[in-house]
Amino acid sequence: RAIDRKKFLGLAGAGLGGLALGGCGVLSTDGRRRLPSPARASGTGRVREYALEAAPAGFEIAGREFSTWGYDGGVPGPELRLTEGDTLRVRLKNALPAGTTIHWHGLPVENPMDGVPDVTQPPVRSGEEFVYEFVVPTAGTYMYHSHVGLQLDRGLYGPLIVEPKREELSYDREYALLLDDWLDGVFGTPEDALAELRGAGGMMGGMGGMMGGPGGGPAMSGAVDHPYYLVNGRAAEDPASLAVRRGDRVRLRLMNPSSDTVFRFAAAGHRLTVTHADGLPVRPVTVDAVRIGMGERYDAILEANNPGVWQLAAVPEGKDGLARALLRYEESRGESPPPANARPPELGGRLLSYADLRDAGERSFPEDGLFSGPDRTHELTLSGDMGSYAWHIDGQRYPDADPLEVREGEWVRFNLQNHSMMWHPMHLHGHFFQVRNGTGRGPFKDTALVEPHMGELSFDLVANNPGEWFFHCHNAYHMETGMARLVSYG
Ligand code: C2O
Ligand code: CU
Repeated sequence: RAIDRKKFLGLAGAGLGGLALGGCGVLSTDGRRRLPSPARASGTGRVREYALEAAPAGFEIAGREFSTWGYDGGVPGPELRLTEGDTLRVRLKNALPAGTTIHWHGLPVENPMDGVPDVTQPPVRSGEEFVYEFVVPTAGTYMYHSHVGLQLDRGLYGPLIVEPKREELSYDREYALLLDDWLDGVFGTPEDALAELRGAGGMMGGMGGMMGGPGGGPAMSGAVDHPYYLVNGRAAEDPASLAVRRGDRVRLRLMNPSSDTVFRFAAAGHRLTVTHADGLPVRPVTVDAVRIGMGERYDAILEANNPGVWQLAAVPEGKDGLARALLRYEESRGESPPPANARPPELGGRLLSYADLRDAGERSFPEDGLFSGPDRTHELTLSGDMGSYAWHIDGQRYPDADPLEVREGEWVRFNLQNHSMMWHPMHLHGHFFQVRNGTGRGPFKDTALVEPHMGELSFDLVANNPGEWFFHCHNAYHMETGMARLVSYG
């Protein structure tokens, strides 16, 4: 966009105080890293090819057989791993009885590759193939998943890990942990669950605690079983073990591809030093527990200095239940694990909040280092209609909703306010946004939680990736019943 020199000079003349973002700090003009976008991606020329088949699959949880839909026969789908700047080429074969797409959650890709059905592409029909291909613009912890209807609430998700060209973080091993709330086949399909929600006027009728109030209401006191809570596709009774050795620095890549559950994660006997939020580096901050909404990711370093067999536990906020993996020291072979329902006290310790997070690159808007206000602000309420089970952004329900206006090159601010009793992890495609957390250097994220009961979230973005982008709640049931808008420009 044309740089407004006059505005800049005027403001500069008035001095810096009080004009910066978030009410404090001075914008640094040198040494700041630029925000990733496809236009800025410098390719390595290397192509990483994967083939993924989306197909019905058998899936066993704690000895019980379910049939679901997954990628390459497993839940989660296979890990895709490549280096920043590589070209990712994925041949998707659709062997499902329904249309599907893949969305590269968190990665700002070129719009036609974004995988939103009927927005960026028609769904890939049953029996057909589609090739996704793009230069991966940035390193970090991402996910891929189907973006059609409630397919995410089956097994159609997997980890996408992008290594930096040069690793700045030192660690000895890494593990990806994908948290899920399993429903498919327990009480019918996700579509059955939605029909039930609608029929019950949002009261969750016969499904009792199953939905537990989508997004974290209190469970309806155990009328029916919970869904299973899973880490990497495994229930607490049958946990995966992560092997470590005393002295290791262990990098955990935490991801929440679940449809309806905000998790709180902690490692018994250890603290977590959070190094990345939604893929991008933050100033390291050490906490006991991390809250992770649907669609969010955190990377954390765990210093393995306390031998034993420990619970890595994820508990659903506002519901009963626990998902876990085990941290197993080689020095402690033969020790037996804690019981499946043991809740580490760390879950109640110091909890990471957005106010703790600062961008590691000390970046802030506007990127060109000029002082000005945002070019445009969207004030949006988040609300639901429990009578018909429908969710709204600013009173409008997708697809009968106006796109949110943005022009290319603009600095845009979103102010969100939650007029409902549920969590809303709001996700924007194609961009990172900077959470305004009072530091003036908030973290860049692509998904951020808006707390229930008048919770607020404010973030800024630069419209640097033209296209039609989805902005929506990452609770699959909220998205599917209207909590989405388009942001289109260019
Ligand atoms: Cu992870 Cu629009 O989605
Ligand atoms: Cu929501």
